[in-house]
Amino acid sequence: MSNFFDKIAPHYDAIPCLLRINYPLVDEMTVKAENHILDVGGGNGRLAHEIVDTTGARVSIIDSSKKMLNQVKDHPRIEVICGSIVKNDFQDCNFDIITCVDTIHHLKNPQAALEEMYRILKPGGKIFIQDFNSLRIRTKLLKLVEKHLLAEPANFYSPKELEEVSKKVGFLGESKSILKIQYLYKGKKYE
Ligand SMILES: C[S@@+](CC[C@H](N)C(=O)[O-])C[C@H]1O[C@@H](n2cnc3c(N)ncnc32)[C@H](O)[C@@H]1O
Repeated sequence: MSNFFDKIAPHYDAIPCLLRINYPLVDEMTVKAENHILDVGGGNGRLAHEIVDTTGARVSIIDSSKKMLNQVKDHPRIEVICGSIVKNDFQDCNFDIITCVDTIHHLKNPQAALEEMYRILKPGGKIFIQDFNSLRIRTKLLKLVEKHLLAEPANFYSPKELEEVSKKVGFLGESKSILKIQYLYKGKKYE
């Protein structure tokens, strides 16, 4: 899985533009400067840098591809951790906010990852998951490419399916359609 991202890491910067999935997520997050945020599958740090630059908060990125993390520019408020979200060493109730952009469908076991995100989020903490909507034609094509040509998990959800699995894990939240082919799920852990 990470092999694929290790290979494309030096060129990854162009991909969100090519797929037209740049979304002003930070505007929806209501981040406070004292918040500690975890960006799951944060890759080359594009979201982490936007968060620290606009809010002053602290961001940790966990990503299983060392080469993607090598692309993250050094910043005193950004920490990088190479590893899998499903086998992390974070303590319970550690983060104020968790973000996960274009990563859920790359995970072999998205529910196990969501269970971990729930465990390490503080009570009342928020989660933002952005991904491709499995019901869209372009996502179906992407799924064929990722699954059969790239041997990626390609675990795409519809907005409703993601809501259901997140609810099973314990989150309260809902999804909305964005960018025509994607959805944004906003969830919360109990207070
Ligand atoms: C499509 S990239 C998204 C990068 C970034 N979130 C963005 O939107 O630009 C997916 C990322 O998920 C990472 N990834 C895949 N499986 C992972 C796992 N189990 N734990 C943490 N990161 C993972 C990959 O290495 C890759 O950097």
